[in-house]
Amino acid sequence: MASLQHEAAHDQRLRRALGPVNLTTLGIGAIIGAGIFVLTGQAAAKYAGPAIVLSFILAGTACALAGLCYAEFAAMIPISGSAYTYGYATLGELFAWIIGWDLILEYLFAASTVAVGWSGYVMSLLYDLNIHIPPALSAAAGTHLIEVPTALAAACKMKSGWGPISDAVLEQIKAAGTDPATLSQATAVFNLPAVLIIIACTVLLVIGIKESASFNNLVVGIKMLVILAFIAVGVAYVNPANWQPFIPAAEGTGHFGWSGILRAAGVIFFAYIGFDSVSTAAQEAKNPQRDMPIGILLSLTICTVIYIVVSLVLTGVVSYTKLNVPAPIAVAVDSLGPSVSGWMGPVIKVGAIAGLSSVILVMMLGQPRVFYSMSKDGLLPPMFSAVHPRFRTPWLAQILTGVVATLLAGFFPIDVLGELVSIGTLLAFAIVCAGVFVLRFTDPNIVRPFRTPAYWLVCPLGVFFCVWLMVGLPLDTWMRLLVWMAIGLAIYFTYGVRHSKLNGKTPEETR
Ligand code: ALA
Repeated sequence: MASLQHEAAHDQRLRRALGPVNLTTLGIGAIIGAGIFVLTGQAAAKYAGPAIVLSFILAGTACALAGLCYAEFAAMIPISGSAYTYGYATLGELFAWIIGWDLILEYLFAASTVAVGWSGYVMSLLYDLNIHIPPALSAAAGTHLIEVPTALAAACKMKSGWGPISDAVLEQIKAAGTDPATLSQATAVFNLPAVLIIIACTVLLVIGIKESASFNNLVVGIKMLVILAFIAVGVAYVNPANWQPFIPAAEGTGHFGWSGILRAAGVIFFAYIGFDSVSTAAQEAKNPQRDMPIGILLSLTICTVIYIVVSLVLTGVVSYTKLNVPAPIAVAVDSLGPSVSGWMGPVIKVGAIAGLSSVILVMMLGQPRVFYSMSKDGLLPPMFSAVHPRFRTPWLAQILTGVVATLLAGFFPIDVLGELVSIGTLLAFAIVCAGVFVLRFTDPNIVRPFRTPAYWLVCPLGVFFCVWLMVGLPLDTWMRLLVWMAIGLAIYFTYGVRHSKLNGKTPEETR
């Protein structure tokens, strides 16, 4: 542990440019995105009804417990490996590898998944502006698409333009009185906008942490303004009757009632993912001992309050039964009447595009920094810890992250991966909570600039909440997690074990 703290203090290869404001906006940048702009409405309509507010409180509580534990670790061992490094310090190399491999699910897969959502919003906005991207270049290879003209999109509460065909989409089109067979259809080859946003983020992140943080600040400012405008305007239109029944009667397990609230919490947990990515910037913070807890906990608090208020307004202005659509906030805006929706509709799209851009950026910032730490410990090849002499960023790992994210988002139909991102993140959170608890006993005297309050309660409760939410996720998500972990272990035992700097020694003997 002392050796890790020594490394944190003396490895100055990455540029220390971030203060508390930038770290907090990085957190907000990573948190507010597809979760609130897309999933909230679907989770309310299908699982929780207006009690989606309780789901947000439940998932927010799990994240607050994990956030406190992250804050303790990030201030104590401010190294860019985040949960990987905390695992290394407390539970040993094999566990650390498992967490590091698991974090790929969170950062790289989330960036790719959100890039696909970003592409959908951008194409819809361009379509409304009469700029038409060929459908072949608008989704992953083999995706069947249907063209929804702007007028029809308004009638059936969908995004206008080309979008994937699904049973739900066909039903919505039919419900609006249109025969889907009369609309144009196409098959996609690759998702050009998703590829372009990932390339743009990669270039920015290679050029510098300061430049990336400045761009993030701008984008976070835009999305916050848009969300606050939605709240300020929407609150006047809330009809409390829409909140009745607050907890709709259960229709089988997971559909409404209390089990529905839990299922919805598992789904919208995705909306909270990202506050932990602040800790991957620990070696680029000017004063990590003080500012890591601020960045993690302040961004989480701000976003939790926003989520609770947005979900109250959303389910207050429109009945939850109408929210099972890809753009639920747009549906709420439409219900405010033409004088409001005329200007606010496009504004919400711009807000969603801004929101999703910063999520992609910060997730792509986190991934190579975890690789950087893993490589320094010998578990990945040395190229992963190469730092650019001028830009002082982990450029090769960044470019590799960009290439893999491009392939995933551009060519594979990865919409199903959202829940894999959630389960992987929950696993990392649970291990971090357990790690803080273990270290209080194995190394009680180490300097802890931030101490998790009532650790004896917060840590076990954090593990409990995270495992509880994991249990609420479907079986096939668990199977995918197990397959992913099996691949990771195979790589560890063929490469990591042989190249590990520890190689049977203690961390103190190797540094
Ligand atoms: N929390 C991020 C989002 O909602 C991943 O897009």
